[in-house]
Amino acid sequence: MTPRAQHADEMTPDLQRLVDAEHGLIGPEVYTDQAIFDVEMERIFGRSWLFLAHDSQLPKAGDYVTTYMGLDPVIVVRQRDGSVKAFLNMCRHRGMRVCREDEGNARAFTCKYHGWSYAADGRLTGMPLKDQYEGIVDKAAWGLKQVPRIESYRGLIFGCFDEDVPPLAEEMGDIAYYLDASLDRSPAGIEFVGGIIKWRIRANWKFAAEQFASDMYHTYTTHKSPYSLLSADDLDHDPLKDTIHGHQYSSPHGHGFGWWIAEEERPSDAALLPTVLLRYIEKTRAAVTERIGDDRRRMESHGTIFPNFSWLYSSIPTLRVWHPKSPDEMEVWAYVFVDADAPDDVKDAFRRFTVLTFGASGLYEQDDGENWVTIQNNLTSPQVRKTPMNLQSSLGRNGSSPDSDGRMGPVIGEMASRGFFHRWLSLMSSRDRPQTHNLEEAMIDAAE
Ligand code: FES
Ligand SMILES: [Fe+2]
Repeated sequence: MTPRAQHADEMTPDLQRLVDAEHGLIGPEVYTDQAIFDVEMERIFGRSWLFLAHDSQLPKAGDYVTTYMGLDPVIVVRQRDGSVKAFLNMCRHRGMRVCREDEGNARAFTCKYHGWSYAADGRLTGMPLKDQYEGIVDKAAWGLKQVPRIESYRGLIFGCFDEDVPPLAEEMGDIAYYLDASLDRSPAGIEFVGGIIKWRIRANWKFAAEQFASDMYHTYTTHKSPYSLLSADDLDHDPLKDTIHGHQYSSPHGHGFGWWIAEEERPSDAALLPTVLLRYIEKTRAAVTERIGDDRRRMESHGTIFPNFSWLYSSIPTLRVWHPKSPDEMEVWAYVFVDADAPDDVKDAFRRFTVLTFGASGLYEQDDGENWVTIQNNLTSPQVRKTPMNLQSSLGRNGSSPDSDGRMGPVIGEMASRGFFHRWLSLMSSRDRPQTHNLEEAMIDAAE
């Protein structure tokens, strides 16, 4: 056992004291402690499927993007045979970042330090003054370190550092059914439009991941001011009225999803939507209903695939990754997605509307970030850090469902946050990967 693994095992009693997911009690140190963060990087981010890119970002051989898996920088590259590989963005000579661009197309990556170069498939192909290495360094053994598992779902490419991780589809489970309500509205699928909007928030990554999994509750208070603005032109329309009738899904894998079905044939944000989008929604209504059913067509939703990939869908189609940077800082990467066969003016209108609402300075986004930063600041004080927080909304009012691998409950509730922490604790306190069937049993036995 490595010293780090031993250290992580010794931490288990503390983690069990801090996280009582079944009773909805959370110790604030899970958001502040450097040692816990370090174990998260190994046991959560080192063993979970993590979102890397969408197919539409890598249309041609040699196309690449750089991103992060937890703290680790990676390069994601389309191969000549159409497959995708990902590599640690680390020169095998002295550790330099081998690719310093956000995206591009390359036949090779050449390190800017001493000039080692690597093919797009990761092989080490060139070393300046190679005579110095003749008979010493076997080039075949010094290629870029490859991310061992890469799989896709509807064009979303995920990677995992753990060779033994179950297949992506198995780990996603029924969250895929709900994700399809956003991604499978058109036979053409989706594409990303515009660039990635990136910004940093001085708060722990879990605040964002949990909120997108489970927290519709906050919208009534946190977003009151933009919601009043939305209904200003239409006093009979309360955009929050419909949300109370929704549901929440909590997966044994830690994913969460919440949705409501708008009572009227209009999205909640209709008052702000440009005509081009209202017309598009109207025009595609019958075809989308045919494809995914009326209920899923009308779902307005939020979700998280454990640990750090989230999305929103209403008239605001955004995917995002909460990249952890330190216990008290995350970097948000927000993407706008659209039906791939939508007209260009519709794609652009969705992009603009999403930036207006959920861009870095968007109407709603700023409200959320402000909360998380204020909490994180509060947690720097010693008495606050020792005082438990409450995640008990709807505790005991949720049930299993014959049609689903998880549990179902009311949309205003914190069941999926408890499910998120149940999975978190299970991974954090296990040296070996916890078996999913055990997780399911644990979930069914839980107090709910
Ligand atoms: S660190 Fe990359 S070539 Fe030396
Ligand atoms: Fe919010």
